[in-house]
Amino acid sequence: MAINKLILTAGPSITSKEIDYVTDAVTHGWNEKWNEYIVRFETSFSEFIGVKHSMTTSSCTGALHLGLMACGIGNGDEVIVPEISWVASASSVVYTGAKPVFCDIEEGSWCIDVKAAESMITNRTKAIMPVHLYGHPANMPDIMKLAKKYNLYVIEDAAPSIGAEIAGKRTGSFGHVSGFSFQGAKILVTGEGGMLVSNDTDIFNKAQSLSDHGRDPDSPLSAVSIGYKYKMSNIQAALGLAQLERANELVNRKRGINSRYRDNLKDCPSVRVSEELPGCKSIHWMTSLELLGNSTSRRTEIMGKLKERLVDTRPVFSPMSSLPMFSRISDNPVAYRIGENSINLPSGHNLTDEQIDYVSETIIYLCGQ
Ligand SMILES: Cc1ncc(COP(=O)(O)O)c(C=O)c1O
Repeated sequence: MAINKLILTAGPSITSKEIDYVTDAVTHGWNEKWNEYIVRFETSFSEFIGVKHSMTTSSCTGALHLGLMACGIGNGDEVIVPEISWVASASSVVYTGAKPVFCDIEEGSWCIDVKAAESMITNRTKAIMPVHLYGHPANMPDIMKLAKKYNLYVIEDAAPSIGAEIAGKRTGSFGHVSGFSFQGAKILVTGEGGMLVSNDTDIFNKAQSLSDHGRDPDSPLSAVSIGYKYKMSNIQAALGLAQLERANELVNRKRGINSRYRDNLKDCPSVRVSEELPGCKSIHWMTSLELLGNSTSRRTEIMGKLKERLVDTRPVFSPMSSLPMFSRISDNPVAYRIGENSINLPSGHNLTDEQIDYVSETIIYLCGQ
């Protein structure tokens, strides 16, 4: 196959539905119609995830920050966070004055290792933040049991997992409060944006008040507490609603991309393609590859050679305790191994089957049979 431009790791699927909704919002969505798409997006999102309440936000980072604060997390508290995630998970904890405590991840899902998390609980631990990494659900049934045993809040970082399921329920519907992302590389996009969801009405009401300058619901032009400005615009919500109405199609395509990579690479002993654990539905937001054997130490070289052949990849997130603003207090060997030898493959919605085959053949050529 002749490839003449870079095959990208991500990219949205935008159709005439998205363009029509945004055009309508930008044309008519002002004054008394300022929040029509916001309300429709929030209502449909609650139905899709299976929760009571949803609130649009300017980002998932903002949703996580609000969720933590609404649970009362603050100075002196500890929150257990998996080592491998985008730094937003830990930063949102730091914003509250609490400390993120980094925990190892499990083989297979690359999500928080529940046994390791239990071993890190102290009398300062107030919450646990599972992350549904790259769209694979964390082990929510066991996390909820752990949280109940130790009386912890559960804040799900569901940023990349819209539509993922475990034990027959959607991610984001287990914890006290959860955050999703619609940033431009995600499965559903609004440019930038997020959603906070919860089944707990008190937590949700607190988060809602904090998200809009602590306004008084009975007198919206006066504020009764110091809050933040973490809102989404109606125009972004129009884009989000159109994307949400196509969510099943978009999830199926991501799963199809992963299945084609897995099929193409099943006989290549130097790589392991991300899969899904039994009882789970991953949305495979980013299909990822662990480099094995001799390829393990060749990640930078392999990524460089893929780029020369017009295949873009990303290194898996670095263990957060290795970042200069944090420190390593526990070995977390699985996280450190995955953080050093794994990559994300091109997984955008507009990727063609021919491009997936080309990327796979190039990996086999570079990594060996
Ligand atoms: C696991 C995870 N958490 C949080 C975020 C932050 O999302 P946002 O950029 O919407 O704040 C991301 C975004 O990449 C993510 O992947």
